[in-house]
Amino acid sequence: MCGIVGYAGASSRVADHGALDVLIEGLRRLEYRGYDSAGVAVVADGAIHSRKKAGKLVNLENVIAEEPLPQSYTGIGHTRWATHGGPSDSNAHPHLADGGKLAMIHNGIIENFAGIKAQLVSEGAEFLSDTDTEVAAELLGKMYGEANGDLTLAMQLAVKHLEGAFTLLAVHQDHPGLVVAARRNSPLVLGLGDGENFLGSDVSGFIDFTRRAVELGQDQIVTITPDTHTITDFDGNPAEGKEFTVDWDAASAEKGGFPSFMEKEIFDQPAAVADTLLGRSDADGRLTLDELRIDAEELTKISKIVVLACGTSAYAGSVAKYAIESWCRIPVEVELSHEFRYREPIVDENTLIVSISQSGETMDTLMAVRYAKEQGAKTMSICNTNGSTIPRESDAVLYTHAGPEIAVASTKAFLAQITATYLLGLYLAQLRGNLFQGQIKDILADLGKIPAKIQDILDRSEDIKELARSMADASSVLFLGRHVGYPVAMEGALKLKEIAYIHAEGFAAGELKHGPIALIDDGQPVFVVVPSPRGRDSLHSKVVSNIQEVRARGAKTLVIAEDGDDSVKDFSEWVFYVPETPTLLMPLLATVPLQIFACELASAKGFDVDQPRNLAKSVTVE
Ligand code: F6R
Repeated sequence: MCGIVGYAGASSRVADHGALDVLIEGLRRLEYRGYDSAGVAVVADGAIHSRKKAGKLVNLENVIAEEPLPQSYTGIGHTRWATHGGPSDSNAHPHLADGGKLAMIHNGIIENFAGIKAQLVSEGAEFLSDTDTEVAAELLGKMYGEANGDLTLAMQLAVKHLEGAFTLLAVHQDHPGLVVAARRNSPLVLGLGDGENFLGSDVSGFIDFTRRAVELGQDQIVTITPDTHTITDFDGNPAEGKEFTVDWDAASAEKGGFPSFMEKEIFDQPAAVADTLLGRSDADGRLTLDELRIDAEELTKISKIVVLACGTSAYAGSVAKYAIESWCRIPVEVELSHEFRYREPIVDENTLIVSISQSGETMDTLMAVRYAKEQGAKTMSICNTNGSTIPRESDAVLYTHAGPEIAVASTKAFLAQITATYLLGLYLAQLRGNLFQGQIKDILADLGKIPAKIQDILDRSEDIKELARSMADASSVLFLGRHVGYPVAMEGALKLKEIAYIHAEGFAAGELKHGPIALIDDGQPVFVVVPSPRGRDSLHSKVVSNIQEVRARGAKTLVIAEDGDDSVKDFSEWVFYVPETPTLLMPLLATVPLQIFACELASAKGFDVDQPRNLAKSVTVE
């Protein structure tokens, strides 16, 4: 999830700003999409001039201050959230090709870049970075020759070879005043000015300059000049976008019009799950986690997995335990990182440590991983932040592709973490032969349907928001779940505690009778996460009995159940239905209404949901 800006203007029309002003302002607003590196390329004096630097945008600005760029009215800019290749100067965009005459920036993941790279290398191409983007740039340079110098046609030819998700923007020194972009499963918006046109990952990329925007469709190519914009499909047939006026103020533009980053990130979840799945299996349903640096043979020898994480990430680990044990028949322990190393845990070279961390910098988890390594264990990191310390110090890494999470309370990273653990579980099952290939394919197909199902929940979120607003005065809320619903209940309670400052507890529903049921009093709100009635029969009926037990003692029961489960209606004050899905995948759906509930309730109380009191996004102290 990177940020992209493109600009085509004309010196005679827009005296007050050149390309660089537009690109830097756009990148500043898009920096929430990634801050591993930033870069720009402008066309001036018949040449491409590029500057790029690892780290935040300010680093790039310093480089430009030291080595100024010539005045220009055409350019592209990029702020990176690393996927292929760590955060470094050489992996920063733009990438140059065609002997430095062409510059390209990219957002997304090109799944088949390795094959294309091999072919280009065999033809003599040389690469300076580890990125998939440079491969696309080199391919575009080759196609530019075949298209006799027509950059738009070259883009049409190039995208036909690419698989995956991408927004590509390119400029060429032969074409001052022209930017070409292509879009597949990755965002791109066109901005219309007077004598200048813009491109952005979203409208915040150009909101300081125009409010007239055009929504582009999938698989479209757009070419902008100062006075024109031309949209076609990938075959060059004319296509149209949908024009709209941006009515957000500039401050809310980065939030996509949402009142908070947290709400935006909740709504980003279909993409977070889809992007984490992208490129990790082939058409036959075989997992292709080539990025893992642990030898497949070694993975088959593992006798135990220990998941190490804190907070929300630890709940992702608890979900993983159910899935991995069920699919792989390997024992999985889940332990809070800060508890692990102080109790002389039993790990050896046949133990696989799986750390889960959004930031990759949580000190508790880092220390636990180091300790496990010292004991001889193999370490694997599931992480959202490319190049951060925990993945760097681990033997292997599986990145989640949720994009940067700005709000302190984790939402989209949690769903992406769960998705990544499912991929790991299926991969181990494939290596060890615990599941038939057909079974793996079926589970992957079910996972592939999850983003649309999350979207379905988001589309119906008003119902949850209304409930949340009506409960703004609640002083305590309890959450119950069984099996994979248990970590979902824990996560629902944590979200409410941390952003709404309301006492909230999550319980395993079966544990109620062993104590917590004494808390139930008249009107006590209790959320219950009900498993699918199509799953293991006893599981569903036990939870329905738990609802009746708390209701009989005066609780106000708020139920999350699967579409079509009428059995809960008679015992619930409020029911929210989520789409059908296999039980093990249910957390990816059932968590979403609880996140929306917490976010809305905290907002109703007037709290800053993005920056709750006493908390930090990345906890780098023990
Ligand atoms: C809660 C939350 C925290 C983090 C925890 C671990 O919403 O965000 O509980 O999950 O601090 O952080 P990471 O995943 O960065 O290691």
